[in-house]
Amino acid sequence: MEITIFGSGYVGLVTGACLAEVGNDVLCVDIDQRKIDLLNSGGVPIFEPGLEALIARNREAGRLSFTTDAAAGIAHGLFQFIAVGTPPDEDGSADLSHVLAVADIIGRNLTEYRIVVDKSTVPVGTADQVAARIRERLSARGETIEFDVVSNPEFLKEGAAIEDFMRPDRIIVGTDNPRTGELLRALYAPFNRNRDRLVLMDVRSAELTKYAANAMLATKISFMNELANVAEAVGADIERVRIGIGSDPRIGYQFIYPGCGYGGSCFPKDVRALERTARSKGYQAELLQAVEAVNDRQKDLLFSKIAEYFNGNLDGKTFALWGLAFKPNTDDMREASSRRLMEQLWAAGARVRAFDPVAAEEAKRLYGERTDLELVENRMAAVTGADAVVIVTEWNEFRSPDLTAVKAQLRSPVIFDGRNLFNPSQVNSTGLTYISIGRQP
Ligand code: UGA
Repeated sequence: MEITIFGSGYVGLVTGACLAEVGNDVLCVDIDQRKIDLLNSGGVPIFEPGLEALIARNREAGRLSFTTDAAAGIAHGLFQFIAVGTPPDEDGSADLSHVLAVADIIGRNLTEYRIVVDKSTVPVGTADQVAARIRERLSARGETIEFDVVSNPEFLKEGAAIEDFMRPDRIIVGTDNPRTGELLRALYAPFNRNRDRLVLMDVRSAELTKYAANAMLATKISFMNELANVAEAVGADIERVRIGIGSDPRIGYQFIYPGCGYGGSCFPKDVRALERTARSKGYQAELLQAVEAVNDRQKDLLFSKIAEYFNGNLDGKTFALWGLAFKPNTDDMREASSRRLMEQLWAAGARVRAFDPVAAEEAKRLYGERTDLELVENRMAAVTGADAVVIVTEWNEFRSPDLTAVKAQLRSPVIFDGRNLFNPSQVNSTGLTYISIGRQP
């Protein structure tokens, strides 16, 4: 099948490469000439395990190409995916200008029936707005060409995006036209084997499903973070509590890890956007407000613990930061807890020596050449001569450090762990003070 994808960002590239991998002819369109040039010369603008090889293989097979020519894109595919960004507006609601710009271009260039597929995470009602925009542009040309707008939200996790696309646990298709639903079913057939994972529903429910999933996961995390703070206050250990409650299948072990807050391009933005959507309809979503507020507070927690330990005297101290990315296996630092922490440390006059297996370039891009940020090549280089270690991202390579060597290098023998990677007694037995989340020191 012929497929066009607008937006060669994270979602667009993964979707394009995976659809090409199963034999479709995919054309990716982006307005950023530099990005398209990079992709056409074999480069990939983002880090995602396996993506570069997948793109290379499908480019070589002639099934995947990249262009800035939107009209060529509209001529190419029966399916026109919209996978452009929806950054938060100043008030936290989703900014639809990129999505509607694609709708404009489609309306101006449409010559025959097309299925427009919203893949971006967009507020409920966006598909209707996209359809209205296309219709407006068509009528300005005096045309009445048929098209459908489908909601088909993505559920990719950064770091596992290709696996998530190739073996989805569900494929949500929202359409009010049964014939279009069947065409989407055919498109997704290669990813929908063994048992039927495709859930057909109306457009608005599909749009809300995406927000509901992320909001539920974010709620689990904020709930556990709240409980971690309670555990600490009452003299309990949240890690034991976590294991104790996760065994109940109704609760489950996933997404109940307490920590220094959730980040990334999805949870913070989507929880806020859903809350703003509800409010715009006159409903106060109090639970969602609390999920956001608890997460915000949790992002301050490492700094509070550090400031308390050093009696507020951080000026001139150096902190070894292990991890910058918002989670392992990505270089993404959007809304990462590391950023809040570093900014607070800098404001208090401290220096940061950070190691992250892949996010150093991103940190350089975000913070430039600051004299109070040093990016080093490995975890021990961060520790040498530092006052304390702070663990922010749970990269696997941080799980079994030589704690005795760490202690020997530190000026103050203390580890602040925002991800509860170690058993407290094991750390304490090396003579290090261990301050983690929701446990007793
Ligand atoms: C999230 C969802 O998990 C995907 O299903 C969804 O498709 C995606 O958003 C999206 O909307 O595009 P992602 O943002 O890549 O995926 O990352 P997650 O693995 O969900 O982690 C999010 C944050 O929660 C991270 O900062 C992580 O450290 C934190 N987290 C996760 C916890 O603090 N505790 C947990 O138990 C789990």
